[in-house]
Amino acid sequence: MRSLQVKALTPQDLTAAVDLDRRCLGGLWNLDGYQREIHSPNSDLLVLQRSEKTEEEKSKGQRAKGEGNTRHSTLDTPHSPALLAIGCSWAILEEAHITLLAVDLDYQRQGLGQALLYCLLKAAHNRGLERATLEVRVSNQAAIALYENFGFQTAGRRKRYYAETGEDALVLWRGGLHHPHFPQTLANWQLAASDRLGRSGWQLQELEAKNQEAGNSI
Ligand SMILES: CC(C)(COP(=O)(O)OP(=O)(O)OC[C@H]1O[C@@H](n2cnc3c(N)ncnc32)[C@H](O)[C@@H]1OP(=O)(O)O)[C@@H](O)C(=O)NCCC(=O)NCCS
Repeated sequence: MRSLQVKALTPQDLTAAVDLDRRCLGGLWNLDGYQREIHSPNSDLLVLQRSEKTEEEKSKGQRAKGEGNTRHSTLDTPHSPALLAIGCSWAILEEAHITLLAVDLDYQRQGLGQALLYCLLKAAHNRGLERATLEVRVSNQAAIALYENFGFQTAGRRKRYYAETGEDALVLWRGGLHHPHFPQTLANWQLAASDRLGRSGWQLQELEAKNQEAGNSI
């Protein structure tokens, strides 16, 4: 199992964040933009990063080298960026505006986007927010499918929202973050995210810890 950590972006991560943004989002925010988010009390800017290798992983790697096995294990990918995924949500009145969600290209379809979206919605709930919203390109079927899994529904369409391509945006909303049953929904999402990551060979430390502690922190 490879270990993942979820944490708030720190000043030390800024260069890696800009790099991930450039590769996955075509350069949505620059370094100043990320720096502003770090200091904004209304912003939850979260990242997933690979944890240090465990002793077991290190010794497995050494054994593989000793046996002359230079192939990547099936769990490894060609490069190991510092940050694997990034997501951001702004608290505006009682709404969570999800402004950013991206997973490194080499690590997509392994459950990281699902896990990070769960963490953002959990953070929004912890702030006492009531609903979440975001804009997504009409052609972005991967993201739309992910958001729909979390109960987001299309509420409108902004014509030619993306200036560079003239593409429309769908406006998605997810209500009920403050309802009494929402903690149970969060617990279900947490289990689903943990299970999905596990099937891809990942373990998210905080998710596992929270499974046992029944939901605090992020
Ligand atoms: C959208 C994005 C964040 C999804 O992250 P991800 O880690 O690849 O997604 P996950 O592996 O967690 O997938 C969770 C679910 O989302 C849906 N999904 C994800 N990628 C999909 C794809 N390529 N096609 C169809 N559904 C997809 C599936 O329902 C998937 O569940 P499953 O794999 O069990 O079927 C990622 O594709 C990305 O970074 N894209 C570029 C940036 C972007 O478009 N961000 C969204 C801006 S609004």
